[in-house]
Amino acid sequence: NKVVLAYSGGLDTSAIVPWLKENYDCEVVAFVADVGQGDEELEGVEAKAIASGASSCHVVDLKEKFAREVIYPTLKTGAIYEGQYLLGTALARPIIAEAQVAIAKQVGADALCHGCTGKGNDQVRFESAFAALAPELKVIAPWREWSMRSRPQLLAYLAERNIPCSASATKIYSRDANLWHISTEGGELEDPWCEPSEQVWTWTAAPEQAPDKPQYIQLSFNQGELSHIDGQAYSAVDAILHLNSVAGAHGVGRLDMVENRLVGMKSRGCYETPAGAVLRAALLGLESLVLDRSVLDYRIRLGNEFAQLMYDGRWFTPLRHALLAAAETIAEPLTGDVVVKLYKGNVTVTQRQSPNSLYSNAFATFDEDEVYNQKHAEGFIRLYSLASRIRALHGQAEDGD
Ligand code: ARG
Ligand code: SIN
Repeated sequence: NKVVLAYSGGLDTSAIVPWLKENYDCEVVAFVADVGQGDEELEGVEAKAIASGASSCHVVDLKEKFAREVIYPTLKTGAIYEGQYLLGTALARPIIAEAQVAIAKQVGADALCHGCTGKGNDQVRFESAFAALAPELKVIAPWREWSMRSRPQLLAYLAERNIPCSASATKIYSRDANLWHISTEGGELEDPWCEPSEQVWTWTAAPEQAPDKPQYIQLSFNQGELSHIDGQAYSAVDAILHLNSVAGAHGVGRLDMVENRLVGMKSRGCYETPAGAVLRAALLGLESLVLDRSVLDYRIRLGNEFAQLMYDGRWFTPLRHALLAAAETIAEPLTGDVVVKLYKGNVTVTQRQSPNSLYSNAFATFDEDEVYNQKHAEGFIRLYSLASRIRALHGQAEDGD
């Protein structure tokens, strides 16, 4: 028996290794996805996995794939969950699950295992991906099986087996970091009436402490793809890292929200997505200039629908392909430049230009114009309001009295 475990080096997955061996009489292969969570988490992770009893540990760099195949395409759809969340955790799941399945096939495993709890979204995301990619593999979710419920219990479990672990008994928060975001849940955040303490935030400066001088950055797009930042080309990954650091220093990208989980409960989370906040603002700025009213309206609905799909773990579905195809088409004219201003927690668009701009000063100006005959509006409004006129002539009042 061989199980591939999505391993992070944290306390939970460290305890899962011996637990699997004891309860499933199996060999455990650790799989670590590098999705940009940072060197702190990755350093020494292989040695840790082996020390916990894994037979081998595979670290796979997924950053480039994550950025190019998930982050940027999703950005083009305008996806934002419940109007606020840029989906950082949800975006990484399909790419992690896919690589985990590939390792499982490579080593000839018969089961997949993850450290998600039985209360969250992540279990659904992982297992929906497993179902789509490897329905023949068994799935093991220890949190839904074992009786351990707290960090001290997990630490005791490891100590009884003489497995070294540097985790502390009193870690306050549950965090999940990748290229796109870091999420923080738990601790005082479980009370929605409690303001997050400063230690919740790790990527962003407090807006109060951010520089007093605003910073402007210019973002250039080609068909909805970011091409340059301040005239300089970056790789897909480096652009995100660069924007995270620049915008994070200005306190941009913080979100404190209560959301609806797929499994029914509400949860409260704090998210930091500095690059995401900047890129979203910039793209909206460009869209406002280039997309006509009906397409823009559709793009907003597409963003809601795609957010729902991502949140709910439906990446490996035909609907995802259909929605991404729509987003690609909509993004075709999104070529141009946007300047954003970063200042004390805010990102605002201050300039935008595009060869495909539909904005026409000749039409819109408040000054004298030569192209627009104001008399034409009269006939339009008469037809536009005809139904109201007919109702009123029939004596049907509109205001209820
Ligand atoms: N609530 C967010 C989501 O469902 C963040 C989840 C964080 N996950 C974690 N394993 N800490 O996307
Ligand atoms: C978990 O419960 O494993 C993390 C939170 C979530 O998936 O929503």
